[in-house]
Amino acid sequence: MKVIVCENYDEMSKRAAKIIAAQVTIKSDSVLGFATGSTPIGLYSELGRMYSEEEVDFSEVTTFNLDEYYPIKKSNEQSYDYFMRKNLFSKINVKDENIHLPNGEAEDPQKECEFYEKMIEKSGGIDLQVLGIGRNGHIGFNEPNSVLVPSTHLTKLTENTIKANSRFFDSFDDVPKQALTMGISTILNAKKIIILASGANKRKAVAELINGEINPKNPATMLKTHHDVTLFCDKEAFAGAKLGIDIGGTAIKFAVINNNEVVYKDSIKTEDTEEKIISSITEKVISLKKDYEITTVGIGTPGRIKEGKVTATNIPFKNTALQDIISEKTGLYVVVDNDANCAALGEIEFGSTKDCENIVLVTIGTGVGGGIIMNRQIARSNNNMGEIGHFVIQAKNGRICPCGQKGCWEQYCSMTALLKDALKAAKKDKESILYNNIEDGSLTGEAFFDAVQKGCPVAQKVFDDYIRYLAMGINSLVNIFGPDAIVLAGGVTKQGEKLLEPLKKLIVGDLRLEISTLQNDAGALGAAML
Ligand code: F6R
Repeated sequence: MKVIVCENYDEMSKRAAKIIAAQVTIKSDSVLGFATGSTPIGLYSELGRMYSEEEVDFSEVTTFNLDEYYPIKKSNEQSYDYFMRKNLFSKINVKDENIHLPNGEAEDPQKECEFYEKMIEKSGGIDLQVLGIGRNGHIGFNEPNSVLVPSTHLTKLTENTIKANSRFFDSFDDVPKQALTMGISTILNAKKIIILASGANKRKAVAELINGEINPKNPATMLKTHHDVTLFCDKEAFAGAKLGIDIGGTAIKFAVINNNEVVYKDSIKTEDTEEKIISSITEKVISLKKDYEITTVGIGTPGRIKEGKVTATNIPFKNTALQDIISEKTGLYVVVDNDANCAALGEIEFGSTKDCENIVLVTIGTGVGGGIIMNRQIARSNNNMGEIGHFVIQAKNGRICPCGQKGCWEQYCSMTALLKDALKAAKKDKESILYNNIEDGSLTGEAFFDAVQKGCPVAQKVFDDYIRYLAMGINSLVNIFGPDAIVLAGGVTKQGEKLLEPLKKLIVGDLRLEISTLQNDAGALGAAML
């Protein structure tokens, strides 16, 4: 199941409307399944707007509604028939003969249910079904039960549902006590399902839908057996803490975020086998689950990720189904993404660039990596996007890169490259402070910057060249992505203004260039926000 958490009800309604419009655009004679209730009203009004502005055409669409009270007259203002005509059908150009709701006026409800099922079948089946969710997890009028009815049927309403729906009637007694509803299989037979949830009173149902076991006592959890379900909810409905995990070569970091605040941070050692890494993460997640009401887990990991499976070089993951394994072992909803993407997301959500829409994060360490955020979302593709250390800045006699190219940015701007260049230059001038700072045949970052600080011209020259290379890459990133800001992270950025000041002089235009305030914490924070 895909979960889309929207800022508010309005955004939720608009995003869901776009999915329906896309469905109708792709297949003009789509069969749409609709729900009633307060939740989809915003969605229906957006569909009405889209139709009036000629963004979508419903003339060939067929519709089937989930349910209807029984018995009830169509003319009754509380009938779902009346509701649908008022909130949607009167605002779009769906043909009257293509509209179907279970008939609350039918004399023989049993026959009506069989007829309804046949009509759905005859239409070719529902392409896209819209659902709301009851506080107890009911969908349609499929109430929690030990056994759920598969096809359209007459059902008794529970006391809770009668109470909840009595807000639309004059009194509790006026609410019909029965309804005709699609069954659980009728719903699950739809090719695609979107389910909407809004408001704090849906929190429990949503949390159970995302993380609960499949259980007829919460009918919505049956949706987990369907291959194409998207849950759209607003922030109110999607409460609970978010856990972010950042797997690194030496440490695994954890961060818990509640109401946009970091409430917990910790790290553990990265073990040396896949099995041990997985069991140490599982153990930690299960213990955190006891202390915090965790709804989702995001994991950032190095390497390539395809459908939640990870293959990395410096972590023992080979096509490891990390997403499914951690989800199965902890019973939580888990998403996995590349660690650099997570760090970039962490920067835009919690770092100094949280006021921006588009940023590029450049991480400078053993290599050069980063993540690209466009419209506050990770920019993705089906291929290896965001390998920003591997565009060429030196075409002629470029340094050989393990990626197969020559002259990659990483070969000039990583910390490794800087120290390699420094060592080479130092060895050429044995009188220099830089040469003096060599220990056991190598230079550390501190030793290099100590020489710069002490005014060593050899070290200064290396640093000037380094800044030049860094600026070249940054200028290219600006030209390609036009970000609001570029954020630099990694060991070299400890130099602060000493790095930024000369760099800014070589940057074209008035780019906002910043040093990460989150540094190594960005990954876990961003993972939590996945
Ligand atoms: C309505 C329906 C119900 C509602 C559910 C949530 O056709 O099938 O399952 O979706 O009761 O109702 P609201 O949206 O009013 O909270």
